[in-house]
Amino acid sequence: MEPKPRPPHCLVFPYTMQGHINPMQNFSKNLVSKGIKVTFVTTKFCLNSFQQFSDSMPVEIISDGFDDGDYASAESQEAYWSKFKRAGSETLTKLIEKLNSTGFTVDCIIYDALMSWVLDVVKSFKLVAAVFFTQSCAVDNIYYHVGKGLIEVPVENRVSVPGLPVLEPLDMPSFVQNPGAYPVALDVTADQFSDIDKVDWVLCNTFYELEEEVIQWMSKQMRFRAIGPAIPLKYLHNEITPEDDTDNGFKPETDSCMNWLNKQQDHSMVYVSFGSLAELDAGQMQELASGIKESKKPFLWVVRASEEAKLPKGFLEETSAKGMVVPWCSQVEVLAHKALGCFVTHCGWNSTLEALSFGVPMVAIPVWSDQYTNAKFVADVWKMGLKVDVDEKGAFKGEMVQHCIRQVMDGEKGKEIETNSRRWMEMAREAVKEGGSSDSSINEFVASLNQLSN
Ligand code: UDX
Repeated sequence: MEPKPRPPHCLVFPYTMQGHINPMQNFSKNLVSKGIKVTFVTTKFCLNSFQQFSDSMPVEIISDGFDDGDYASAESQEAYWSKFKRAGSETLTKLIEKLNSTGFTVDCIIYDALMSWVLDVVKSFKLVAAVFFTQSCAVDNIYYHVGKGLIEVPVENRVSVPGLPVLEPLDMPSFVQNPGAYPVALDVTADQFSDIDKVDWVLCNTFYELEEEVIQWMSKQMRFRAIGPAIPLKYLHNEITPEDDTDNGFKPETDSCMNWLNKQQDHSMVYVSFGSLAELDAGQMQELASGIKESKKPFLWVVRASEEAKLPKGFLEETSAKGMVVPWCSQVEVLAHKALGCFVTHCGWNSTLEALSFGVPMVAIPVWSDQYTNAKFVADVWKMGLKVDVDEKGAFKGEMVQHCIRQVMDGEKGKEIETNSRRWMEMAREAVKEGGSSDSSINEFVASLNQLSN
């Protein structure tokens, strides 16, 4: 009898931030369901910081050179990235040697586009290189053009980029708007495409129908495949709803969130979250709090522990009957809940895709990075939300937050936004269903890996 072929083995290596780990982990789970063996790779600090690793696939540790702390423990951002590259290349090489010699032969590395140095390690072992972009194709294309020197930074005038609408400077990612404020970030993001012609697969967390024109353009430059939205499929496929999910590993604060949401009427709630990194100053926090309070809607607001001291004095007491503030929640479950009517968001790409996949209309308040571009698309291209005016220093007005929430939930514009939100939700779900555009791209990738190991 022929021996059973071993499944192809991929190492999946995200950058060590929540917004990068989540989509790459969800994508990995999808690969595992299609018969691929996946080993997740991360740093020691990251493994200890994120609870989500406990229940999923095997995890191996490499070093970024800062085993007892994150990038904040480096003397500068430059020092962090250069040490990460050195220590990461060394320890990733050792890890592959170990796996290969213990019967877990590695076939492919799926690595975060921010760590372009991984390609050299992949090539030294003659493995398949699949680079994973965690941001939108539109944003990736902007960085592609910046890397090629085709967009002058800082951007001071309107910009035309193939496949994209004309963009104002304030619609561009903050690293491109104002590179002086983020010296290393611009180099790292522009470097994502430096050796792209040597990469075998370019995987992006988006879906074809959402960014058709720009995806077509990118696909002419490289082997680009849209594989998203990379979020837990059990909710997207309607196999289970948050209300009856008894196996969701909620942390205590999420249980209390669910209890709170279960008490609210359908589509009545405002959910507010600015992701895992964005920091608001006291003035921004004051305006946001007043906008939420004056909207008079019931709300659930995620204020991370590090941000809590900035809440206006008395806010929690004054709003305790109407709202709930938690340090973290299980966002996908919250967005999937039928009580949700509106999401006030910084427009991180995961939050944007998650809201879109559950048809939740958005009020966009971008803070930094790709969020400005995502907010522009949410409001003006996909028309599934409104954008609060934010100036070049990040300042915005509470009255406008309140106005946008009311418009989205009760106003004339809200009806069109709701219709569009539902349409995008259906398209997102179609894309990841069997035979959908993203599912087909993933199957193509999986088939090519299967050929390797057979
Ligand atoms: C970062 C960048 O800021 C973002 O712009 C980029 O696109 C990805 O990397 P972050 O700011 O954390 O990410 O935002 P986002 O991309 O929205 O990711 C946050 C993730 O944390 C989401 O998957 C969200 O579901 C999750 N989350 C957030 C929770 O699970 N609970 C929370 O309470 C808040």
